[in-house]
Amino acid sequence: MNTILVTGASGRTGRRAISQLIARNQQVRAFVRRPEAARELLDMGVADCVMGDLEQESDLRRALRDVGSVLHICPPMHPAEDKIAERMIRLSEAQGVERFVLYSVLHPLVDVPHHRRKLDAEHALLNSSLAYTILQPCRYMQHLNAIWAQVRDHGLHPMPFDSKARFSLVDLHDLAEASAKVLVEPGHDYATYQLAGPERLSMEDCAAILSGVLGRDVKAVARSDDEFRRGAQAAGMPAERIEGMAVMNAHYTAHGLSGNPNAMRWLLGREPTHFAEFVKRELMGEAI
Ligand SMILES: NC(=O)c1ccc[n+]([C@@H]2O[C@H](COP(=O)([O-])OP(=O)(O)OC[C@H]3O[C@@H](n4cnc5c(N)ncnc54)[C@H](OP(=O)(O)O)[C@@H]3O)[C@@H](O)[C@H]2O)c1
Repeated sequence: MNTILVTGASGRTGRRAISQLIARNQQVRAFVRRPEAARELLDMGVADCVMGDLEQESDLRRALRDVGSVLHICPPMHPAEDKIAERMIRLSEAQGVERFVLYSVLHPLVDVPHHRRKLDAEHALLNSSLAYTILQPCRYMQHLNAIWAQVRDHGLHPMPFDSKARFSLVDLHDLAEASAKVLVEPGHDYATYQLAGPERLSMEDCAAILSGVLGRDVKAVARSDDEFRRGAQAAGMPAERIEGMAVMNAHYTAHGLSGNPNAMRWLLGREPTHFAEFVKRELMGEAI
């Protein structure tokens, strides 16, 4: 049976993609760096786990042994994302991997450091001999989860960019389903899919939807660059990541991040999840 290697397996994206693959009876190998994460993923039903560091070539070589397909999900804003992807691609070619699915980002062309590194990863994949699919997801709806207590308890929706900037927010659950379909179903070789949600929403739009769903007033709060930097430093975020996020926030303020939902609609065979549905399902526990 085709073994699918998933990197970033214990992360937010990896876990949901793996559970969609297991639901489709796929044999999944998880690449992990912590024994507890390996235990949790084995409990979820992965066939095996390979322990290692994405920056170690020998670990990647072990992980790729007898693998048919790869879903490569790099840790977010990793400073060596381009190098890691190039190494993964070169080793996958050498080990006879049949399909390589790269988890990229919507609009890798924009002038934001981690988008640029994903662009370089896409470039390396296009120049390889591998059959590939590139997934380009927009910003996740799940960024709300981290501020949910403030929204619910204080009626505040803070984000570090302009409150009118619009995003084609996308549900991570839909992304996981789309990723699994691309890996399992035939016909996705040499495709690049923009994976955007069905609505272009600003923080003010999200606050208005949340007000309706929660039955209380929710206010969008645009945090300044200074506030963002102070909070990130206090949380121990590395300086390089703070700089990268500050550039991203400035880009978001100027342009938002918008995409087209049609590829997502076609891949899922249904309407992608709307923001209000996501809130009710994931944060209010309603069966949708
Ligand atoms: N958030 C968004 O809106 C968005 C939009 C588009 C694309 N994306 C992309 O989605 C991808 C995944 O994001 P995420 O939020 O799911 O990430 P995440 O939850 O932070 O997960 C990162 C994963 O990478 C693992 N990891 C970190 N460093 C590693 C290393 N050196 N060696 C091996 N494994 C390592 C982590 O392991 P541990 O569990 O041990 O920490 C974890 O499994 C990123 O590439 C991001 O750019 C995100």
